[in-house]
Amino acid sequence: MGIVECKDIKKTYQQGKIEVHALKDVSLSIDKGGFAALAGPSGSGKTTLLNIIGGLDQPDSGSVSVAGNTFEKMTQSQLALLRLHNVGFIFQSYNLIPVLSAVENVEFVMLLQGVQATQRRERAMAILDDVGLEGKYHRRPAELSGGQQQRVAVARAIVSNPSIVLADEPTANLDSKTGNGLLEMMRKMNEEKKVTFIFSTHDKMVMDYARRLVLIRDGRIVDDKIK
Ligand SMILES: Nc1ncnc2c1ncn2[C@@H]1O[C@H](COP(=O)(O)OP(=O)(O)OP(=O)(O)O)[C@@H](O)[C@H]1O
Ligand SMILES: [Mg+2]
Repeated sequence: MGIVECKDIKKTYQQGKIEVHALKDVSLSIDKGGFAALAGPSGSGKTTLLNIIGGLDQPDSGSVSVAGNTFEKMTQSQLALLRLHNVGFIFQSYNLIPVLSAVENVEFVMLLQGVQATQRRERAMAILDDVGLEGKYHRRPAELSGGQQQRVAVARAIVSNPSIVLADEPTANLDSKTGNGLLEMMRKMNEEKKVTFIFSTHDKMVMDYARRLVLIRDGRIVDDKIK
């Protein structure tokens, strides 16, 4: 059984009077230690699928399990705990907290996890160093470039050693050198710590890096290649 199991997922959104069938019937199994990319045209359902896998959104039908936990059987607070301890998110829009500095943004998850203050600061600084942001600990998001904000978002997603990282277009808005550096970093974490990564992307470079390429079109998986 994979670390992520989706079976017969359907998700319909209501846009005014129109029903949008974002996911029509998606089944997907991702093994632990996977490095997989979801690719497909705009509106094909990539973000919807990532949000469902991360427990941020619920499917209308079908089942999802992550690390052996079946979502339908869980309460909202159990789901929140699973997310907190197992899943790191990197959103398309970074979602950094504007009033917090880089290091405070990274510390935030550990604060929720009850990690003690000095340890939080040490780990946050070490991970910011890893992503090439040494010396920028105390800058707020607005004082960082897009690529640097993206790296803070990556640091925040990985700082508490999640078993899965879900990354929605992680290289969007980055120049190819920064994007490449970021992918290298993620691949290293994948290889050394066996963290499972699932990306959504339009970026050829991400597709090349991925060891598995899942193509989504119009709410369905139309191709799935293991390289
Ligand atoms: N909260 C929502 N309310 C209504 N419709 C939504 C919502 N979220 C997504 N949709 C619709 O569902 C479909 C799939 O959207 P989704 O964001 O999953 O696509 P995507 O593959 O991530 O696209 P992109 O590559 O542009 O990010 C789209 O038609 C979108 O308009
Ligand atoms: Mg999207």
